[in-house]
Amino acid sequence: MLGRVRITRPARYTGGARLYDLLSGERPVYRAGRRLGIAELQLRPGARVLDVGCGTGLNFPLLLDAVGPSGALVGVDASGSMLSRARARCQSRRWSNVTLVEADAALLDAALSRSTASGLFDAALFTYSLSIIDRWQDAFAQTLCRVRPGGRIVVVDMALPVGRWRVLSPLARLACFTGGADITRAPWNLLLETTSSTTHRVVRGGHIHIGAGSRP
Ligand SMILES: C[S@@+](CC[C@H](N)C(=O)[O-])C[C@H]1O[C@@H](n2cnc3c(N)ncnc32)[C@H](O)[C@@H]1O
Repeated sequence: MLGRVRITRPARYTGGARLYDLLSGERPVYRAGRRLGIAELQLRPGARVLDVGCGTGLNFPLLLDAVGPSGALVGVDASGSMLSRARARCQSRRWSNVTLVEADAALLDAALSRSTASGLFDAALFTYSLSIIDRWQDAFAQTLCRVRPGGRIVVVDMALPVGRWRVLSPLARLACFTGGADITRAPWNLLLETTSSTTHRVVRGGHIHIGAGSRP
């Protein structure tokens, strides 16, 4: 189901949606962060989870495995093209417990209230999206308010590699430039500062950070 709201669409993720899964470096680099981040959500069967900047739905199989058929997943993205890919994924896998909402994450609260996906969530996830979303602090704050007290929030995002992996910095810069990500933003720090029971893991030579915490 798609709740429609007025938004400015991120251009890169309109034309590039068709090639995203192929060219995003998913298998060699980014899947590791996705898997670790979703484990940190500590999802149980029946849980209700929000995926902000969900893109083509690469997180969906892992999230739905964890929440099961009695759970529910809401994916929010500003790009209708990315959501079309996500919708096709849901249709081909016959997932009926996924709701897709086209919205600027900085206006999440209003968008969810207008859609069928209102109410609080058990968990929320940002994978490789907060470094891209323009008003990312607003997006984070609005997401935090939508998670029930004690619910988990995870931010998976990118930084420049460190130590001997610094030789890969030009590649990391290129990946972030191509995707429109701000590699200096370190958005997991906002999560670590504003939640409790936090964890912070770093993989892929310092390129991928996984921050997790519970809503106080
Ligand atoms: C690098 S992709 C990550 C997609 C997905 N989370 C993943 O892990 O594959 C970034 C996503 O953020 C979305 N995005 C960018 N700005 C946004 C905004 N203001 N509100 C919601 N989504 C946004 C883009 O459309 C794109 O789908």
